[in-house]
Amino acid sequence: MKPLVISSRRGFLLSLAVAAAVTSGCKPADSSAGGGSVDAGTGPIKIGEYASLTGSEAAFGQSSHRGTELAVAEINKAGGILGRQIELITEDNQSKAGESATIAKKFISRDKVVAVLGEVASGRSLEAAPICQAAGIPMVSPSSTNPKVTEVGDHIFRVCFIDPFQGKLLADFAKRTLKARRVAILSDVSAPYSVGLADFFRKAFTAGGGEIVGEQKYASKDKDFRAQLTAIKAENPDAIFVPGYYTEAGLIAAQARQLGLTVPLFGGDGWEAPELIQIAGSALENTYYSTHYSPEAADNRVKEFVKAYQAKFNGDIPDAMAALGYDSAMVLFDAIKRAGSTDSTKIRDALAATKDFPCVTGLTTLDAQRNATKGAVIITVKDGKFKYVETIQP
Ligand code: PHE
Repeated sequence: MKPLVISSRRGFLLSLAVAAAVTSGCKPADSSAGGGSVDAGTGPIKIGEYASLTGSEAAFGQSSHRGTELAVAEINKAGGILGRQIELITEDNQSKAGESATIAKKFISRDKVVAVLGEVASGRSLEAAPICQAAGIPMVSPSSTNPKVTEVGDHIFRVCFIDPFQGKLLADFAKRTLKARRVAILSDVSAPYSVGLADFFRKAFTAGGGEIVGEQKYASKDKDFRAQLTAIKAENPDAIFVPGYYTEAGLIAAQARQLGLTVPLFGGDGWEAPELIQIAGSALENTYYSTHYSPEAADNRVKEFVKAYQAKFNGDIPDAMAALGYDSAMVLFDAIKRAGSTDSTKIRDALAATKDFPCVTGLTTLDAQRNATKGAVIITVKDGKFKYVETIQP
């Protein structure tokens, strides 16, 4: 855990003063978890947020955190919930395996949070979810798309679509728009998200008459993908599917172009980060990815959100993680309001009853599996900039 003042990727300070203050308060740990929690009923309502604020997926955690911060600031400014302010306790898992579980335990036993927000990456949500579930504390993931996350149990929710939908829409996109019949896959075996999305894509693409050729693998933090790309090149595919995160996807795009692979490369929401363009530059021409929202949408809810976010964060444009970070917090706050209580069981029940809540990423209804159903957008890169291509409804 690293509750620090961190320097964001856009170069200004993101103060995690609340987290630092809470941590330095150093109350003795105990373990009263088990049947959920009811707080003292006075003072701020404590919510734990775990995020990858540093490390290989720092872009995810920083964006998501800023969206969440904006939601907290808006709610507190409007008088809080149940007459109480929200206290967001944020912890950095440094994009490292193991940290999210440790943080979730601390949120529950020491901070006595009534609910938890996080994470972006499915693998890290899968670490914290069993701990929240066992303690009876509701957890809302903003943007983890692997189905297994909410399957952990009835206290685990998400406000985004899931990967069977994302895999299918990418398969349709490859066939219809890219006119691809033979697709190679290069996936990250160390990320449950990547393994899952590769599977859902493979199923949908072959069911639609397509063929998978030259399936290759890598692990997170790998830097050299030339052996896999050379094997893929030998298969002469029409396009290459890279269901991974932006750091590796950027390097893969750059090395593919160096090896003379000019076919389209495409991925899922894991590609979304300004860093992708910094890493791969012009190698990203003729690449595409699917994600949850576009700040260019004409929708009023999106416009209001983009305006408020830019006012708070130096004119930066919010990406999908920021929008979903904001939405996850607002859905949780709405549930606490409807629960009329900070009793974690009542909050869970209210979350489960979420219906047509107006999120930035669309009307949000949480189904019996605690997932949302939403449209996706396809983004391409043109002249070094992300560009909206189309919206795909479920
Ligand atoms: N969906 C990805 C996962 O489950 C995380 C992600 C969401 C990445 C949104 C970028 C944008 O791991």
